[in-house]
Amino acid sequence: MSGAKNAALPLMVASLLTDKPLVLDNIPKLADVKTMSDLLCMLGVSIDCSGKKMTLTAKKICSTTAPYELVKRMRASVLVLGPMLARTGQARVSLPGGCAIGVRPINLHIKGLQALGADIELKDGYVVASVPKGLKGGEVSFSIPTVTGTENIMMAATLAKGVTTIINAACEPEVSDLAECLNGMGAKISEHGTPKIAIEGVDKLQGTEHRIIYDRIEVGTYAIAAAITDGEIELIGDGLGELMSGATSVFEQAGIRIKSAASGLLVSAQDLKPVNVATEPFPGFPTDLQAQLMAIMCVTSGTSVITENIWENRFLHVPELCRMGADITLKGSSAIVRGVKSLQGAPVMATDLRASFGLVLAGLAAKGTTVIDRIYHLVRGYENAVEKLQACGADIEEIL
Ligand code: EPZ
Repeated sequence: MSGAKNAALPLMVASLLTDKPLVLDNIPKLADVKTMSDLLCMLGVSIDCSGKKMTLTAKKICSTTAPYELVKRMRASVLVLGPMLARTGQARVSLPGGCAIGVRPINLHIKGLQALGADIELKDGYVVASVPKGLKGGEVSFSIPTVTGTENIMMAATLAKGVTTIINAACEPEVSDLAECLNGMGAKISEHGTPKIAIEGVDKLQGTEHRIIYDRIEVGTYAIAAAITDGEIELIGDGLGELMSGATSVFEQAGIRIKSAASGLLVSAQDLKPVNVATEPFPGFPTDLQAQLMAIMCVTSGTSVITENIWENRFLHVPELCRMGADITLKGSSAIVRGVKSLQGAPVMATDLRASFGLVLAGLAAKGTTVIDRIYHLVRGYENAVEKLQACGADIEEIL
């Protein structure tokens, strides 16, 4: 398995908080990591890579602007807002704009930074932020848990004067991984992984070496690949089981068997069953596995109901699956999936990162050949997906 995309991105941004080298191990080779590298280099970070290790050093910040052309490519760019404010007292970050799965506002990020004393205005499509006298600790209470919102505030608060408390913080493992790395740099963060995080500001952060956690969404995706093809695969990596906590109970209900093995996890399936599931913040069932779960429920006899509670438009894979013969009806934020005997291969179009893998999974199970267009979505977040699937016996190739 590979390092987690959604851990690697905030961890790379943490380099802005110190002028010392930050060494990240288990870096995944992804398009989004390349985009983040481009952005950080623009801000003055020097980046050296060797194998799975990346060393990031922000000796001096030479620009505090994150431009639209980069931010629109990757919304996680908004993560530079808090650290840049903490390090330099100013930041100008393009509003990310929406994406396929929804409007994706950043109002909670902005409110949180204002609670730490930042003056923020929206000008020409940019968030223009300044805090001449430096950030001050305060209470940040999120109306809904936001993953990158929690990460933005947590990073900013490490260098604020005084203590910051984040209420209704996101509890995803990637948030905890970032907190562990920041503490390794000399930050004083406690209770991360719970809905209430405390950060005691310090004057300066040092460098550190940190190994990125494995990608729980990748693990869940390949677990479904094994099940939908009635195969058995071995997922290699230590501690994968604990990472799966949000999805394990749903997988068990569905008949997807995950067993610990010396090298990681052994995954297979036994008489698949339909499920009723709603996506929730961690430790609930992750929205980033919703499209993949839907693919396998398309060929599981019985009726499943999948409700998407996080993103308002994350069913773009539904019409594509229906082109392959799936029987899915949308009702508000729920998809009613009636299992069919088999799907038929067809030309389909990927619309976003996780939907693209949902179509790959459907294609693996379908009769005939499926050609998926716009596969650039896939390489944003899955390292060597085609090679990994081929290694498990999949008949898949990338058409360049
Ligand atoms: C992170 O996005 C992930 N991305 C997403 O993964 C994931 O789907 C999402 O968390 C939910 O788990 C990264 O970590 C880089 P949120 P993020 O802020 O932080 C609303 C993938 O496929 N909200 O937790 O942008 C928002 O609209 C990607 O890897 C506000 O209203 O998500 C949503 O309904 C896709 N205002 C909910 O909160 C805000 O200021 C949760 O969003 C922020 C968020």
